[in-house]
Amino acid sequence: MGTLSCCLLLALALFVPGDAASRKCHLQGLWRNELGSNMTILATNTAGTFSGSYHTAVAATNKQILVSPLQGVQQHPSAKRHPTFGFTVQWQFSDSTTAFVGQCFVDHRGKETLETMWLLREEVLSRKDTWKATRVGTSIFTRIK
Ligand code: BTN
Repeated sequence: MGTLSCCLLLALALFVPGDAASRKCHLQGLWRNELGSNMTILATNTAGTFSGSYHTAVAATNKQILVSPLQGVQQHPSAKRHPTFGFTVQWQFSDSTTAFVGQCFVDHRGKETLETMWLLREEVLSRKDTWKATRVGTSIFTRIK
């Protein structure tokens, strides 16, 4: 093969946008957020539902932290490059529930991140305490496996 053909092939391989543009973000895997919490998401089924586990690094209670199950759903499974999703965590060591919603992004290098917002509802003993029962935040997860 001549030098010119070789250079053309190399240029094609490097600059054809198809590969990067067709990369999809996958939820399945092991993720960590900025607090140091770890989350495992298992395979999404054809309906888009998934399960997994959440090991939080921080808690609003003084109880011993336990790994807790999560249940979620992804929108348009397999069709979208940057799918939206939501999941809830049923904490095994507190009376609270957390709901996350977010979107899975993949950059041109293939690096995936989950951009999320969450609501943490803690149990209060009376409706008059509802005003202080919900925390809100944002969280970015990066893939560690
Ligand atoms: C609790 O404290 O009652 C349960 C644990 C809550 C952990 C929260 S959920 C939102 C935020 N992100 C995390 O990774 N951990 C905290």
